[in-house]
Amino acid sequence: MNFHIMTLFPEMIQQCLSSSITGRAESKGYISFNAVNIRDFSNDLKHHKVDDYTYGGGAGMLMQAQPIYDCYLSLKEKIGKDKPRVIYVTPQGKVFDQQMAADFAKEDDLIFLCGHYEGVDERVLEEIVTDYVSIGDYVLTGGELPAMVMIDAISRLVPGVLNNDESALTESFHNNLLEYPQYSRPEEWMGKKVPPILLSGDHKKVDEWRLEQSILRTKERRPDLYEKYILENPPKPEKPKRRRKKKKNEDTENLNVSESIENNEGFEIKAKDQ
Ligand code: ADE
Repeated sequence: MNFHIMTLFPEMIQQCLSSSITGRAESKGYISFNAVNIRDFSNDLKHHKVDDYTYGGGAGMLMQAQPIYDCYLSLKEKIGKDKPRVIYVTPQGKVFDQQMAADFAKEDDLIFLCGHYEGVDERVLEEIVTDYVSIGDYVLTGGELPAMVMIDAISRLVPGVLNNDESALTESFHNNLLEYPQYSRPEEWMGKKVPPILLSGDHKKVDEWRLEQSILRTKERRPDLYEKYILENPPKPEKPKRRRKKKKNEDTENLNVSESIENNEGFEIKAKDQ
């Protein structure tokens, strides 16, 4: 997977991504980073100007279309694809999540456009951008940090980047659940003991406990994710305790899913993906 980043601050990108796990993956050849300075494509050979005033007035400067478009053309030629995927990082975009990271990780090449100043001339965006993506509802000074956040999240899903391919799947957000609590040595610290089940050596019980903890933690900390998990893994209706004659479809007619979520009822704990 090759990441191409159109930016006014290539050294910021290169330095950050060449450290830690992304840096190791780059040196092993699983991913590559190509931070390109938009300024190098300015037609203003004297000052390498890339911004100008906004038509119609308004505070601040706007990044001009021409240097960005020429930078894009040079990357397009390098990639050798007619319509490469171009992500414009902007607070106006769709909010980035794990599912988007997984979709982007399927590409061979991704181009990120990092904006600055008051934004970018709309015409070049219309011409080259395929995806408008935000990292959250707040405004940063530029697109470099959001681009690096996304590149980090996408990189770790590229096969080979993490030492153990499995760990990418079992961590937080797999199946819309947060990760269960984890413990290392010593067995007791500041009077707090490691949950005994984790010392039992019974792997099935440990898996069940972890799934249960994931569900409880998600319900408490991220009710929005919990709702998604429940929709995809609906609780099984409880079997009636006493035998009595049933009306047709009574079981499903009377099942109130949100009520049973509230009461934690009818949950079948399956350790399927652990
Ligand atoms: N540029 C400035 N703020 C941003 C954000 N929240 N997400 C993506 N790009 C941005």
